[in-house]
Amino acid sequence: EKGEYRHYMLKEIFEQPVALQRTLEGRLGSVADLDGLFSKNADLLERVRFIQIIACGTSYHAGMIARYWLEALAGVPCQVEVASEFRYRTHVVPEGTLFVTISQSGETADTLAALRATNSPNYVGRLAVCNVDSSSLVRESELVLLTRAGPEIGVASTKAFTTQLAALKMLVLAMARVRGVDEATIQAQLDELRQLPGLIQQVLLLDDEIEKLAEQFVEKNHTLFLGRGTQYPVAMEGALKLKEISYIHAEAYPAGELKHGPLALVDKEMPVVAVAPNDELLEKLKSNLQEVRARGGELFIFADGDAALENEDGMTVLNMPAVPECLIPIVYTVPLQLLSYHVAVMRGTDVDQPRNLAKSVTVE
Ligand code: F6R
Repeated sequence: EKGEYRHYMLKEIFEQPVALQRTLEGRLGSVADLDGLFSKNADLLERVRFIQIIACGTSYHAGMIARYWLEALAGVPCQVEVASEFRYRTHVVPEGTLFVTISQSGETADTLAALRATNSPNYVGRLAVCNVDSSSLVRESELVLLTRAGPEIGVASTKAFTTQLAALKMLVLAMARVRGVDEATIQAQLDELRQLPGLIQQVLLLDDEIEKLAEQFVEKNHTLFLGRGTQYPVAMEGALKLKEISYIHAEAYPAGELKHGPLALVDKEMPVVAVAPNDELLEKLKSNLQEVRARGGELFIFADGDAALENEDGMTVLNMPAVPECLIPIVYTVPLQLLSYHVAVMRGTDVDQPRNLAKSVTVE
């Protein structure tokens, strides 16, 4: 039930601290064994040389973030592709490939079809990262990592996404251990993961401020979302949320690609949303933001307090709490969910049941 909340989507956004707590519970011990996934399948997981992630929509964005983590932390090469493309193209399966599907429902037709077509002997196993225990995807995969977000009713995926990221982060850490990454690095990140529910709680306190910000999007027809590194998929997710529930055209770009085309679109009629945590790409991002300002673009920046970005003409900054690097994409997704939600409510759309969309896409 929605209870005190006006929409399921809002309820599910606010449930994220609890949902994340459930996802992490019992899985952060020094072993990070993930419900026996690693102890029971030690041989199999040691043979992994390559990871192929397949998903659709929001779950695909989770996969894109996992790829940055996997290669940077566990040193495992990884590719991510939307299921509807992967399943219909002739592709090479490198030896020692772990096939990973990510899905809230576990019933997405294209994702399931891609799983069912994994007949190359080069696959060492099939792992489903899924929110529904009784789903087809879970039943048909020999390895399973449940996200435990609880039922998600709103068509726009929110808590399913952040719990997917938490689950994937644990998977990456466990994989890093198998690959011999030093224990101190892994423990430090496990400690940071423990702060996640509390950090999300802090971001939820920004709701009123974000609602105010939303007013400036209501009359617009186009928006651009920018990010770099793991914030590029976060920007994609922000753009997807906005377009699906508010029907405002939204596009995401890796900030470094601006000058290769999209900069031509920038004027004061197109708000540009940027995600600016305090990471090693901040300075690069800032110079991209200057490019937008110099062309009269209206910037809305979710920034770390230490990023030294302040409100100025043409630039509205919303300060975020300090976030450990390993949690940045998870935490910075939340203000974008709230932004889309409020814009949609102000535009009077059917937030929980956007036109033309279904919660579970069981046809291709
Ligand atoms: C967007 C959204 C969709 C789903 C996609 C995959 O908010 O909800 O893009 O993420 O249809 O669904 P699952 O994760 O159930 O496979």
